[in-house]
Amino acid sequence: MSFRPNATLKIHGNDAHHCACLTCKRRGRRLHSVALKEFIAKELGTVAGIVVIGAQWGDEGKGKIVDVFAAKADTVVRFQGGANAGHTLVVDGQKTVLHLVPSGVLRENTTCIIGPGVVLDIEGLVKEIEYLKELGHLKNPKQLLISDLCTVILPYHKKLDACREAALSAKTGTKIGTTGKGIGPAYEDRASRRALIFGDLFDHANLEKKLELGLTEKNVLFKTVYNEPEFKVPEIAARIRELSEVLAPYRHRDVSIVVQKALKGGKQVLFEGAQGSLLDILHGTYPYVTSSSTIAGSACTGMGIGPTSIDKVIGIFKAYATRVGSGPFPSELLDDTGEKLRMVGQEFGATTGRPRRTGWLDLVAMKYSIRVNGITNLALMKLDILSGFDKIAVCTGYRIGGELVTDFPPSTEALEKAEPVLEWFPGWKEDLSRVISLKDLPRNATNYIDFIGNQLATPIDVISVGPGRDQILWVKPLFSN
Ligand code: GDP
Ligand code: IMO
Ligand code: MG
Repeated sequence: MSFRPNATLKIHGNDAHHCACLTCKRRGRRLHSVALKEFIAKELGTVAGIVVIGAQWGDEGKGKIVDVFAAKADTVVRFQGGANAGHTLVVDGQKTVLHLVPSGVLRENTTCIIGPGVVLDIEGLVKEIEYLKELGHLKNPKQLLISDLCTVILPYHKKLDACREAALSAKTGTKIGTTGKGIGPAYEDRASRRALIFGDLFDHANLEKKLELGLTEKNVLFKTVYNEPEFKVPEIAARIRELSEVLAPYRHRDVSIVVQKALKGGKQVLFEGAQGSLLDILHGTYPYVTSSSTIAGSACTGMGIGPTSIDKVIGIFKAYATRVGSGPFPSELLDDTGEKLRMVGQEFGATTGRPRRTGWLDLVAMKYSIRVNGITNLALMKLDILSGFDKIAVCTGYRIGGELVTDFPPSTEALEKAEPVLEWFPGWKEDLSRVISLKDLPRNATNYIDFIGNQLATPIDVISVGPGRDQILWVKPLFSN
């Protein structure tokens, strides 16, 4: 809905320049314009807080969407996960892969915030900052604000991650298939109140004492259980002192205030999820999950804002499905079609380079994601990859022990037994990567999208037809209700 100047009369006096209301009178016109923005945001159809999350098993294209949306956003926030994420942005053919820095960073006027819920690989972050600077970004350190409350990942977390995966594999023949970035052990330390947090890195006098707290017990594990050398507190402390010098310009004690002010001022804030909903620690396919809460509610807890600040939850999903690491994947394709999807879709991990498992789009899992996240709108990614398939299938149900199941089962054992029930669609041959208007999509592609939209009963606002920033079709304008 477009802005109607008269509507302001109802909230703030008779005219934007001479508002007589008490708040504006007391603090002058600036506040009025803030109030006006708030009014526009709340009443006239634009929205302020948007959560962007992965609706599948990660790698849906969140980075691309956040980069595109960031054109109109003032602030982009990462609120959970760590450098296990690999978010790829392609602008004018130049590829940028981000692991920790929010995907708004290529827009120099967009403030990027790393919130308290993130586990921070400080070695990796320093490298990522250098990489971004080499590419000509992050010229102003004030563009990136890191919360003092983030949990810090140290080398022993990564080592423990690797040791546990090796032990699990030796014992059971399978492993979680983690990224090896120390995510689980770091979140464990936070929960058991022995983690270093980002603010601690600058308290040089107490570093050794705080490190002892986390490391003593782990060194016993390394020595006696995993037969690995122990980590030495002075060495780690020395490295932290070096890294803290580099990271000091990005330190921000309370990012929650920054986000709150932006939202109150009617500014647009994007909350960029990492991983995917089905990897959520509570609601994913446990134990084959990551160690953070990846669903939309985590934007509030991971950042320190209330649920009332969120106007929209956008679920990002691919036109097919992928998964990296172990765990159930009912619509997985282990044949040539799966291989074709992997090769055409270039489905190789942005963080580890591992081949991603591929399969048909799973609507049972998608409906579950929509439910647990409260997804209000969808972005359909990588539609172009399906060009050239004679027929395309969508999974609409599972058969488990002879029974038809249409609700995603909350049991990994059940999911492992699930046989997909598939509905088939005729494919299309046309290259979609140059399509710039919805009306130019082939009929079979439109039918496919319509079926998905109807089944999911959620509007698909955006359709992506290539990795590039401009390869995007808008069904609905950005930031509208
Ligand atoms: P994220 O982790 O959710 O940000 O996704 P990744 O970056 O790990 O993986 C998505 C991959 O698909 C990246 O290489 C993107 O550049 C690419 N991509 C995103 N959208 C599209 C699209 O619509 N079509 C194609 N062909 N590639 C896309
Ligand atoms: P983005 O943000 C896909 C998977 C790992 C493994 C499981 C646990 O790029 O979508 P972890 O290292 O987190 O303890 O591994 O989670 N995983 C991802 N899969 N995309 C990701 O991030 C992932 N981050 C973690 O492969 O199965
Ligand atoms: Mg990724």
